[in-house]
Amino acid sequence: MKISIVGTGYVGLVSGACLADRGHNVVCVDVDKRKVDMINSGHAPIHELGLPELLKRNVGVRLSATTDLAAAVADSEITFIAVGTPAVDGRIDLRFVEQAAAEVGRAMGEKQGYHTLVVKSTVIPGTTDGVVRRSAERASGKVAGQDFGLGMNPEFLTEGRAIEDFMNPDRIAIGGIDGRSQDVLQKVYASFDKTPVIRTNCRTAEMIKYASNSLLATMISFSNEIARLCTAVGDIDALDVMRGVHQSLYLTTYTGNQPPVKAGLSSFLEAGCGFGGSCLPKDVTALIAQGADLGVATPMLRAVLDINYQQPDEMVRLARQHFPELRGIRVTVLGLAFKPDTDDLRESPAFPIIQRLRDAGAVVTAYDPVARPENHPGLLGVRLASSLQDALQQSQVIMLVTRWQEFEELDTELAKLKLTPLVVDGRRLLDPAAFSHYEAIGWRPLASADLGRPS
Ligand SMILES: NC(=O)c1ccc[n+]([C@@H]2O[C@H](COP(=O)([O-])OP(=O)(O)OC[C@H]3O[C@@H](n4cnc5c(N)ncnc54)[C@H](O)[C@@H]3O)[C@@H](O)[C@H]2O)c1
Repeated sequence: MKISIVGTGYVGLVSGACLADRGHNVVCVDVDKRKVDMINSGHAPIHELGLPELLKRNVGVRLSATTDLAAAVADSEITFIAVGTPAVDGRIDLRFVEQAAAEVGRAMGEKQGYHTLVVKSTVIPGTTDGVVRRSAERASGKVAGQDFGLGMNPEFLTEGRAIEDFMNPDRIAIGGIDGRSQDVLQKVYASFDKTPVIRTNCRTAEMIKYASNSLLATMISFSNEIARLCTAVGDIDALDVMRGVHQSLYLTTYTGNQPPVKAGLSSFLEAGCGFGGSCLPKDVTALIAQGADLGVATPMLRAVLDINYQQPDEMVRLARQHFPELRGIRVTVLGLAFKPDTDDLRESPAFPIIQRLRDAGAVVTAYDPVARPENHPGLLGVRLASSLQDALQQSQVIMLVTRWQEFEELDTELAKLKLTPLVVDGRRLLDPAAFSHYEAIGWRPLASADLGRPS
């Protein structure tokens, strides 16, 4: 099929490259000429495992990029909108989606024949058959369901393993305003014939995405609340508690002599310094705002966010147990990306942690193996180190924020430098026994636990 994709960010470019690899002819559209030029020269504008190889294989063959949206629509049968949907002032900002829908609408107005418009961006339920439909109809002078198709196809990929996720999806949600729109969209995924397909209306497809992300966020905040209780009681390792929870038949499948298989959801049931990224915080926020608009209270989702916003305080509290006064203390923050294997910094917990450290007067150095942000507002007054060794120099406190594999060697690196700083492990990545001074989320061992307190 001939496919155009508007927005070549993490979702648009990965989708485009994967669909091209599956045999479709794909043109990626972006307003950012730098990204377009990079893609056309075979270079990935983002850090994503396997993407450079996909681009090498497909650019100039079945994949290209352009800033000319009208030409891309004219020369394709289906257009996906994959632009950003940030949260602004506590609610979803649909500006980019609305603008893209109007631009695609204008191009459809100039085009003979049936074209299908599909929203891939994460949008609150009611957006596709509401604002997107209105914008596209107004701009094209055509009627959805009659002159053009309209669908919603949420994306479930996870940054850091986006190609793997896209190529081996666990489900494909096909939302459409009618059977014809759903059929066109389903044809795109014809080669994914082993994957369960949910054919539904646009609103349900939209809600599937929000419900999925809200569940993941809830699991993380649930684990962090349990971890706080573990720490407060003392001598309970939240990691062991969750290992015990994971063994439940609900989370682990036991089949005969085969090794038990842990459900992927288990990885969200781990205590840590909080969730971030371009999806979970903004999607939970958007759903809460929609609930408020509709007069539906969402106390559980509010608590999920509240707990998450408190996790940076927990990291600083752990440091203060050793350094009650942080003014002038040299602190190294390890990891800026919101998760490993990506350069995405959006809503990373590193920034609120750095902010609190700076507010307390600490002297902060930060290091990330991949993300090298220049002029990031969250890094004012922070020294950006160029290597792990450089980051550790003279450090008195190390805060591990991102689970990068490189940080597993922290004990070896510190030994080489003959340093014994306090290590605050925000991801439970390290062996406590390997450090002279160690604190972690959900971990307060016997020696420091106040066993005199009534349980
Ligand atoms: N990043 C993820 O892991 C992920 C996963 C699933 C779903 N999503 C959702 O997918 C959507 C896109 O997310 P992303 O992370 O890829 O965003 P992104 O910010 O990385 O990319 C968006 C791109 O759209 C371009 N753009 C904006 N308006 C445009 C227009 N009118 N014409 C052409 N290009 C335009 C921007 O220049 C940018 O390159 C969001 O709704 C997000 O919630 C993201």
